[in-house]
Amino acid sequence: MKYNVPVIPGDGIGPEIVAEGCKVLEAAADKYSFSLDWKEYSLGAEHYLETGELVAEDTLKELSKYPAIFLGAIGDPRVKPGILEKGVLLTMRFYFDQYINLRPVKLLEGVWTPLKDKTPQDIDFVVVRENTEDFYIGIGSRARRGKSHADFEIKRSLYNIKFGLDIDSDSEEIGYQIGEVSREGCSRVIKYAFDLAMKRRHQVSSVDKANVLSDIYGFWREVFLDVAAGYPQVKHDFNFVDAITMWFVKNPEWFDVVVAPNMFGDIITDLGAMIQGGLGLAPGANLNPDGTSMFEPIHGSAPKYKGQNKVNPLATIWAGALLLEHLGQPRAASDIVTAIERNLIEGRIKTYDLGGSSTTSEVGSEIARLVGLV
Ligand code: IPM
Ligand code: MN
Repeated sequence: MKYNVPVIPGDGIGPEIVAEGCKVLEAAADKYSFSLDWKEYSLGAEHYLETGELVAEDTLKELSKYPAIFLGAIGDPRVKPGILEKGVLLTMRFYFDQYINLRPVKLLEGVWTPLKDKTPQDIDFVVVRENTEDFYIGIGSRARRGKSHADFEIKRSLYNIKFGLDIDSDSEEIGYQIGEVSREGCSRVIKYAFDLAMKRRHQVSSVDKANVLSDIYGFWREVFLDVAAGYPQVKHDFNFVDAITMWFVKNPEWFDVVVAPNMFGDIITDLGAMIQGGLGLAPGANLNPDGTSMFEPIHGSAPKYKGQNKVNPLATIWAGALLLEHLGQPRAASDIVTAIERNLIEGRIKTYDLGGSSTTSEVGSEIARLVGLV
């Protein structure tokens, strides 16, 4: 069996960590007698600075033929913040309609958590972040004093929406951003969360701010309840986003599957990463179960560490394991996670963030070696 997998190393530390990811996935492929054929795409800052192009429509079309993409990180200090993140990363998430952003929060054996007295038994949940709507739709602008008009359009495979906005303001200048969630969009991601809970501990926690942003998140809650009615075996609860940050720290053992709108999901998963040992250990998957999915660490491109062979590749390697699981190689995937765990318990070969002094590539090689042994 041969899998063709597009790889986007991206910016900053992206190329270094992705190289280790590929190394480990190849070791797992050898073990289980399948092969991986990587096809590299040079998207990100270099490509943008050379050509002025973010990502070409033809590239997106070509990528959409594959079930899974392996991604490093996007973002570079030479480019104004947001240009690459929105123009490359979010463009791909939206174009491929990757409506699920799956972020496991699992404390592995051998990892230190800043939460006192919490163990791997206590920190083991999954955040299912909606990945195409909410305040990420890019609808907003600025307006100066007086009358003005603005037109916006949201184009998705699910729907097209046009907004026309008449503004009459006597403020010197305003900035505004419109959030939007749809019944279809909420329903499909919440359903995914309930299906996942059926395979886990049968509990789904919703995140919102329905007490203040009641139009958008009151609607989210309503759709949540509609979906929940179809899963009588699964318990559910509602959490305001501010409160859930507190519970993640105080009682992480309460959670099984947490489902959140896009922006809150973004915020709470950085907190989630920290309680599972840091950003160096937090993988993510952007999923479209019927299309092209994309696997990446949840951390960014860490430009200040670029080219130093210093950063932790484990989040990317773990994201690679999620990729193999998605491609239908669950045993290869679970061996990679076991190898990561073995490495962490042994505690010999680890990067600086975990208190060690090994290099990125030493850690990658060690995980690849362990994959052969576990
Ligand atoms: C993430 C990142 C992105 C996001 C940025 C880089 C656009 O923070 O994947 O969590 O906000 O989704
Ligand atoms: Mn984020």
